[in-house]
Amino acid sequence: MSAPTISPPLNSIPAEIRNAQDYAALAPHFMPPSHHAYIAGGSGYGQSVAANVTAFEQWAIYPRLLRDVSQGHTRITLAGETHAHPLFLAPLAFHKLAHPNGEIDTARAADATDTCMIASTQSSCLLEETVAAKRWFQLYLLPRREDTLHLLRRAEAAGYRAIVLTVDAPIQVANRRALAAQFQLPADCVNLNLRGYDTTPRFAGNGPGESRFFQGAMRGAPSWDDIHWVMSQTTLPVWVKGVLHPDDAVALRDAGVAGVAVSNHGGRSLDGAPSGLDVLPAIRAAIGPDFPIMYDGGVLSGSDAFKALALGANAVAIGRLQVYALSVAGALGVAHMLKLLREELEICMAMAGCATIADINSGALLRQARRANA
Ligand code: FNR
Ligand code: LAC
Repeated sequence: MSAPTISPPLNSIPAEIRNAQDYAALAPHFMPPSHHAYIAGGSGYGQSVAANVTAFEQWAIYPRLLRDVSQGHTRITLAGETHAHPLFLAPLAFHKLAHPNGEIDTARAADATDTCMIASTQSSCLLEETVAAKRWFQLYLLPRREDTLHLLRRAEAAGYRAIVLTVDAPIQVANRRALAAQFQLPADCVNLNLRGYDTTPRFAGNGPGESRFFQGAMRGAPSWDDIHWVMSQTTLPVWVKGVLHPDDAVALRDAGVAGVAVSNHGGRSLDGAPSGLDVLPAIRAAIGPDFPIMYDGGVLSGSDAFKALALGANAVAIGRLQVYALSVAGALGVAHMLKLLREELEICMAMAGCATIADINSGALLRQARRANA
């Protein structure tokens, strides 16, 4: 088999892109197969990656007729901050896997489209160089608290407006697609944000009778104590990402977090976890109508975003699609993808008779049988 030809990133938008989702189909032509495997893959056998796709298929959207949406708009207010639209960029590690300019280009696209970028701790560009008007910082706890605090202070100093503490990935579960493709981080793709910090796990679980997980990774995992500690160290709003159980959502609300990100980590953490979409209604019902919820997982179109908003989310974050668009045409590609996605959402809202995001609710949806996987 001959090696596939990888095109360099384009400086213009390819004519065949009509929808945001088209960037997913083009991406494999613009990055090495092993990079694509790492990005596209999930943990274990990919059950939760698949669940993120099928979850959307069980909902249809009612067209509503003859309504006046001439005052329509997509603005939202989230935990006191106004956003032009509810589409966010989810935190993704190592954008240089997709494009040599990495996160710097993604941030430029966010800036150009009034989009809030949630920049990952695991970044191939410095958080100080990832500049957009609206930026939040995704925090992973580091093995040593003084290092976590230093990272938090850097994010504050750089002007990030909120902290998103990810707590759902305490154990690194193998990504089988990445392993099969022999994925390795290339030399020019290093975690720049963490240079100078001690990232060696504090616990190994190698003692007699010890488990690598219970006495190892999980002893270094985020705890309730850490949630309270992070909130006590910053005046920025603190969101917690990776919530799937209504009881956890309620406990986090009661602990005083600014919002919860309902997410199965793009199917990359616990394989077999439900799609966030399937648990959104129960989480919304449990925490009440006003508590901020961000949704991510499997969003590829404006109608997907609409469905998540209808099922209880206030905002929707885009994961893989952003680095797919980045690989095709850098900042231009990401900006174009976001523009298409926002237009798709506007079309969907208008034809469903929703003039504002607040008008979108579960009455807009019809539940239908899940399509069998072909
Ligand atoms: C992620 N995700 C992630 N989450 C996080 O909190 N910090 C991180 O550094 C990363 N890194 C990361 C890398 C890659 C390659 C992927 C695909 C995902 C999870 C991400 O924020 C989000 O939850 C999912 O990607 C959403 O699902 P979709 O939109 O990719 O289907
Ligand atoms: C991932 C980690 C980096 O999903 O969050 O790959």
